[in-house]
Amino acid sequence: MKDLKKIELHLHLEGAAPPAFIRGLAAEKKVDLSGIFTPDGGYAYRDFNHFLEVYEAATSVLQNPEDFARLVLAVLEESAANGVIYSETFLSPDFCGGGDLSAWRDYLAAMEEAATEAERDFGITLRGIITCIRHCGPEKSRPIAECAAETKGDFITGFGIAGDEMMGKPKDFAWAFDCAREAGLALTAHAGEWGGAASVRDAIADLKVDRIGHGVQAIEDLALVDDLAERGIPLEVCPGSNVFLGVFPKWDKHPIERLRERGVKVTVSTDDPPFFRTTMTREYEMLNKTFGWEDEIFAEVTKNALDAAFCDDATKTRLAKALDLEFP
Ligand code: ADE
Ligand code: ZN
Repeated sequence: MKDLKKIELHLHLEGAAPPAFIRGLAAEKKVDLSGIFTPDGGYAYRDFNHFLEVYEAATSVLQNPEDFARLVLAVLEESAANGVIYSETFLSPDFCGGGDLSAWRDYLAAMEEAATEAERDFGITLRGIITCIRHCGPEKSRPIAECAAETKGDFITGFGIAGDEMMGKPKDFAWAFDCAREAGLALTAHAGEWGGAASVRDAIADLKVDRIGHGVQAIEDLALVDDLAERGIPLEVCPGSNVFLGVFPKWDKHPIERLRERGVKVTVSTDDPPFFRTTMTREYEMLNKTFGWEDEIFAEVTKNALDAAFCDDATKTRLAKALDLEFP
């Protein structure tokens, strides 16, 4: 499973930070982060809201463009070691200068340079999806969308929203999504991880997104599932994350296979792999063990991810060749 070539569309850059990397930076900067680690060196938290707090505490040691460049290299090396050849990663200007455009440009330049280095050294291509944070509120989402619109290009290709899905409504963020769409960015939103099927409907209707992050609670409403299938709206499904956080109690209760069988374009990602003690290899192993997925279905979900990726057709054609898939 490790060697199977993969595409990952839903990965939070800070959430992919290896705990040893964050501990190392904390030591360099003399920040005491001992409370956020388990005795075996993983991240420690109680539930989803505490996860968001620990995530932000870990991120507090990432303080300048060079720290983020080192993070990009560490994350892409690990992804490539798990067979990922193309990764779309959520980047948050909130953590990179707080939404100030000129600071963001400096962070972005450092990350893009690191991505070029990783492409050369590890054979993995990165694209960035700029992400606002829902629990920071709609006002804060505006400068983030402006950062996205101003830095759209070959590297920054998408805009999205993450964070606490129970705070506010998708339509509160419509201004930010309109701004990003007008700049030509592709759109995704976290929905249907915690907010139920209705939150998926709202994200589609009010934000006019191209993809849904998670979306798995759509399974509560089969008319919505059929709508997703008919409209070909892909889901960025992160089964290990959902099971670890208790969205579903066990792997065999996860709806990814029911969604796929009903015609939804599902894709597979890790979300925040060290937080959920997973990797793309482990996701594939668990999908094989739980649902009997083998090469044919892995090829199907990889093709879904290739089609749904927020990159240009020349990049997709190159990836298709490497994956032994047809494109278009
Ligand atoms: N930020 C990082 N991981 C997240 C998740 N799984 N849901 C919402 N926001 C997040
Ligand atoms: Zn996520």
